[in-house]
Amino acid sequence: MLITFEGLDYSGKSTQVRLLADWLESRGRRALVLREPGGTEIGERIRSILLDRTNMHLTQAGELFLFSASRAQLVEDVIRPALADGVTVILDRYFDSTTAYQGYGRGIPLEVIHAVNRFATRGLTPDRTFFLDIPLEEIERRIRESGAARDRMEASGDDFYRRVRNGFLALAATESRFVVVDGTRVVAAIHEEIIRTIEGV
Ligand code: TYD
Repeated sequence: MLITFEGLDYSGKSTQVRLLADWLESRGRRALVLREPGGTEIGERIRSILLDRTNMHLTQAGELFLFSASRAQLVEDVIRPALADGVTVILDRYFDSTTAYQGYGRGIPLEVIHAVNRFATRGLTPDRTFFLDIPLEEIERRIRESGAARDRMEASGDDFYRRVRNGFLALAATESRFVVVDGTRVVAAIHEEIIRTIEGV
């Protein structure tokens, strides 16, 4: 089974990914957690290019292809073999991030995005996708609280993030594999909702 988590930066995805993996393993199921971009040696090198703030002149096409290149490598080298072995793969971001960030966010035509997504993954689609939804004001608050410096993507501005969020919501409205989860609640409540959904799969 392939489960993906999507959400804006600081939505709490990574915490929920870890909790779900622990829960699956406590029930005797093998789980593998991977993050995008990255997850392979080539992918990690691509990731550092993508997040590097000195690369502000990276073109939109370059950004699309780098995310997709990292993903193509991960799918072939790690995800497909693990799924074939019966492992549940949990991804912290997958091609819906490309649709939301590069498509809805940057404005690359969606038909281009969908074609690249399909080509990079050879059509490997998640069984379930959790979208952890939080309002922009809450993200701002979390960024301020963390005190962390913004990476290249996070330096893209509020309007960009508003479009990305709307993109995720538009995807969720059309794809039945999506579950929209209210990410403003406490961690345990979100986890409960996620495992209830998984138990039904
Ligand atoms: P990361 O530090 O992994 O953020 P997070 O912990 O929020 O997942 O950085 C990934 C960044 O790249 C994030 O801003 C989302 C963006 N991204 C895209 O724009 N397109 C994509 O296809 C993917 C996978 C990520």
